[in-house]
Amino acid sequence: MSVIGVLTAGGDCPGLNAVIRGVTARAADHDNAEVVGIKNGWEGLMEGDTVPLDRDAVRGILFRGGTILGTSRMDPYVHGDGYQSCERTIKRNGIESLVVIGGDGTLRSALRLSQEGLPVVGVPKTIDNDIAGTDVTFGFDTAVQVATDAIDRLASTAEAHNRVIVVEVMGRSKGWIATYAGIAGGADAILIPEVPYDLEAVADIIRARHRRGRRYSIVVVAEGVEQPAGAPRQKARKDAFGFDRLGGVSYQVAEILEELTGFETRVSVLGHIQRGGTPSAFDRVLATRLGVAAADYAIEGRTGVMAAVRGSQIVPVSMEEACADIRGVDPSLYETAAMFFG
Ligand code: F6P
Repeated sequence: MSVIGVLTAGGDCPGLNAVIRGVTARAADHDNAEVVGIKNGWEGLMEGDTVPLDRDAVRGILFRGGTILGTSRMDPYVHGDGYQSCERTIKRNGIESLVVIGGDGTLRSALRLSQEGLPVVGVPKTIDNDIAGTDVTFGFDTAVQVATDAIDRLASTAEAHNRVIVVEVMGRSKGWIATYAGIAGGADAILIPEVPYDLEAVADIIRARHRRGRRYSIVVVAEGVEQPAGAPRQKARKDAFGFDRLGGVSYQVAEILEELTGFETRVSVLGHIQRGGTPSAFDRVLATRLGVAAADYAIEGRTGVMAAVRGSQIVPVSMEEACADIRGVDPSLYETAAMFFG
């Protein structure tokens, strides 16, 4: 009987529990493997905090947000000595293969562990949808729906007051949520890290729109865009593990737009509301399929691979490919969004 460890690391994401359930059901039910849940991401692997998982332990979690295992941004290569920091827990639990559900940083550490000899299978996770090697990540669909609902609501209050509202969405390095929610919500401008922006041009769009009689404008901003040129630099903020905390650039954008257009401009930072709560049906199905596939790869003894989406199929791709890049918004998609600005 083989022993498979499973952990969730980095920011949480709707669908994590569906992946854990998929891994456990496939491994325990169908292959009689033992599944060891590792608590709080890499922290649990470094500190020996584990919990046995079986089919019963993962009942009733499919639709729950967050992760039953907990997560953290602790990293064995940033806060420890890599494999050495995890060896005790791996040996004590007899873990033969580790399923790591995480974003780009987590997957990079997983790849290094596999290069140090621990069999590792990755499952890409982020609402940001920016992991290379896969067409889409679970959690993204849910986040886009939340952001789109927010834009719809903000548009109606903005219209009542003839205001501009700047809506800040997540997207640390890339603007997938901004672009999708902006298209779905009919945004008048979308600012993303991949495309340099000019607030004079955005102000022109807004002025022209209001001259045509529209009584509101919505500007969607990905949190990871550069601060506007000339604006006072925001103080760098760090999380508990030393990583940059983003959020708030839209206040600078709004101040400049208000100055340029003369329209009252308000800000709504959606923040963690995009990440919490129940996953969409699409994300539940995708996360389940990825979990089942990851268990299969682990049982087959594969290592250094990630369960990925290619078209309608789940396929193993090399984690090296997944870690080589961060996937940005396709320029043609952004062009489609831009057709509807103003
Ligand atoms: O990477 C996913 C993400 O949601 C980013 O969009 C965001 O910048 C980050 O996590 C926020 O993480 P935390 O909750 O740790 O501040």
